[in-house]
Amino acid sequence: MRTASYSTPGKIHLIGEHSVVYGKPAILSAINLRVRVSLLETETKQHFSGELLRLKRIVEGVVKKEFKVSIFPHYELNVTSQIPIGSGLGSSAAVCASYIACLLDLLGEGFNTEVVNKLTFEVEKTFHGNPSGGDNTTVVYGGTIWYRNEVGIVKLFSALPFLFHIKTSKFLLLDSGHPKESTLQMVENVKSLHERKRKSIEKILDSQEQLAKSLVVALRDGESEDVIQLIRQSERNLEKLGVVGLRARSIIRMVEKLGGAAKILGGGGYINGSGMIMAYSLNLVGLEETLKDKNIPILKVSLGESGIRKE
Ligand code: PMV
Repeated sequence: MRTASYSTPGKIHLIGEHSVVYGKPAILSAINLRVRVSLLETETKQHFSGELLRLKRIVEGVVKKEFKVSIFPHYELNVTSQIPIGSGLGSSAAVCASYIACLLDLLGEGFNTEVVNKLTFEVEKTFHGNPSGGDNTTVVYGGTIWYRNEVGIVKLFSALPFLFHIKTSKFLLLDSGHPKESTLQMVENVKSLHERKRKSIEKILDSQEQLAKSLVVALRDGESEDVIQLIRQSERNLEKLGVVGLRARSIIRMVEKLGGAAKILGGGGYINGSGMIMAYSLNLVGLEETLKDKNIPILKVSLGESGIRKE
């Protein structure tokens, strides 16, 4: 009986979440938290229910269409994950990518990064409506990427051909709590704001683009003070887009008072939590201690990790 196992990293948006939906650039990086999916071929039909059944139907549907497969082998599906779900860390893209790669192995189609990325995007569309494609591209290819969805059918991305400077390469992730809304709902909220207040929202989107251009240089050159100012400004823009709730804002203001900068890193959330927050400071150790004293859950992550891989 055949088996297949792939692991895929999560991601963070260093900048550009939401504005990327409007054709602006985003900088995303793969992190050292991974999802592992294993398939074990079985002789008898396995029972799937709930979310797993939904995922199986969608993934098989996409693979069926691409490869004109009519029958899938029976299999057992195992998912183990280090990535918190629904926190803006790309867990859904990572699960889908690993699952698709396993299924293609089982079908004897072999591994092809481009195909896995394309099919992951198709599955993400079923879950998230009209995603930019940034999440799937980052988790599949890994590293740190500059990503732009030009016109839906044309998506451009470039793996950054340099590492971030040691002074500006370490970030903390702080948990602001699970969002009540889905990423799809948050994208819809921004869309409705864009329809109602086009001029002012366009200004924010343009500002995010300029900030992304400055941030990539500051990160490469280790310009810590610039990184702090740019992250702060980008967070203010996200707040104006209505994707950051009160709890996240109070944590972010606390980090700022301590001399650092912080922002949400995905779709966000307004009613309750806003998912994970990334924090940067010249004194990361001091910041970590203060946040621990305040009982704010912290994760330390490294960026630019490798993309999907066979296990
Ligand atoms: O919440 P996440 O990790 O799925 O990130 C969403 C990022 C958005 O820019 C809000 C949506 C998108 O499709 O890029």
